[in-house]
Amino acid sequence: MIKKRILLIGSNGMLGQCVVENLRNRNDIELTLASAEDTSFFDNISYSKLDISNKKEVKKIVLDFYPDYIINVAAYTNVDKCESEKELAWNINVNGVEYLAKYSVPSNAHLIHISTDYVFDGLAGPYSENDLPNPISYYGRSKLAGENVIKKFDIKSTILRTNVLFGPTKFGRPDFVKWVFNSLSENKNIRIVTDQINNPTYIEDLAQAIITICDSEKTGLFNIGGAELLNRFEFTKEIAEYFNLDFNLVEPIITADLNQPAPRPLNSGLINLKAETEINYKPRSLKECFGLIKQFWENNPS
Ligand SMILES: NC(=O)c1ccc[n+]([C@@H]2O[C@H](COP(=O)([O-])OP(=O)(O)OC[C@H]3O[C@@H](n4cnc5c(N)ncnc54)[C@H](OP(=O)(O)O)[C@@H]3O)[C@@H](O)[C@H]2O)c1
Repeated sequence: MIKKRILLIGSNGMLGQCVVENLRNRNDIELTLASAEDTSFFDNISYSKLDISNKKEVKKIVLDFYPDYIINVAAYTNVDKCESEKELAWNINVNGVEYLAKYSVPSNAHLIHISTDYVFDGLAGPYSENDLPNPISYYGRSKLAGENVIKKFDIKSTILRTNVLFGPTKFGRPDFVKWVFNSLSENKNIRIVTDQINNPTYIEDLAQAIITICDSEKTGLFNIGGAELLNRFEFTKEIAEYFNLDFNLVEPIITADLNQPAPRPLNSGLINLKAETEINYKPRSLKECFGLIKQFWENNPS
């Protein structure tokens, strides 16, 4: 059997770990991992430390491994820090993506890249793939430029836009669900915005969509969001209700109260219709996701 060679970049991140878990047991795939840290979270899978903003490093890893697919889930993801670290954000989110696309040409690799609803201004969500981007933060601008830079190259490419990722990982910082769970379990008051609307996306659903893209070789732009459109306060209420936590500890606020450096797209969210039609994407309901998260926590006590 000829195995598909997949180079996964950003494997130590939240989404990256979930993609590894979904690919590691497939015997039709030869997987190699790369991320910014010195060491990998995964033993027994080949790993290289890689800075995607270093052209020579990207050239070496791509031309040494000669992948059929490059899955890029690495990014500079701290939205507020992007406002003060513009050069670093551009180097990673734009130049890094450009290098991956550039070396996809000689290796004939299919580049699968993750983008965000932050390419939109949040005035008229939820958005389809045909809506015109208009980023309002530097993170959003850099992610949009990262999408556009891929188009300069004559390669097979797929861009998946997603929003508000959640889901458990064995390593790294807790996701939103775990943070809400921990805070409310410890009777801590938390303040949550009522004016940011999204369809939160379960990382497992997105990881499976990425794998479907590899299997189907579909190219183009796809929205991959969750099943339910709701604001962050309502999302928190769903979490509290499912896990029997005290929702009275949650104070509703608006985004402006947070005085964050980067503006957020408020009325956002992503319409999944194209992915549902073309790649049979079926996001799970929030309740199904919470059930799976509960199982994960039981199997992986922290
Ligand atoms: N999280 C969300 O809610 C959300 C929403 C919409 C879109 N997205 C997009 O989804 C993708 C995955 O996000 P995530 O939440 O999984 O991000 P994450 O947890 O921050 O992981 C990103 C990974 O990229 C690595 N990385 C950063 N700079 C790098 C570099 N120069 N070279 C190589 N690796 C580098 C990071 O390593 P270090 O930890 O060492 O920096 C980290 O392992 C990103 O493209 C993001 O823009 C995320």
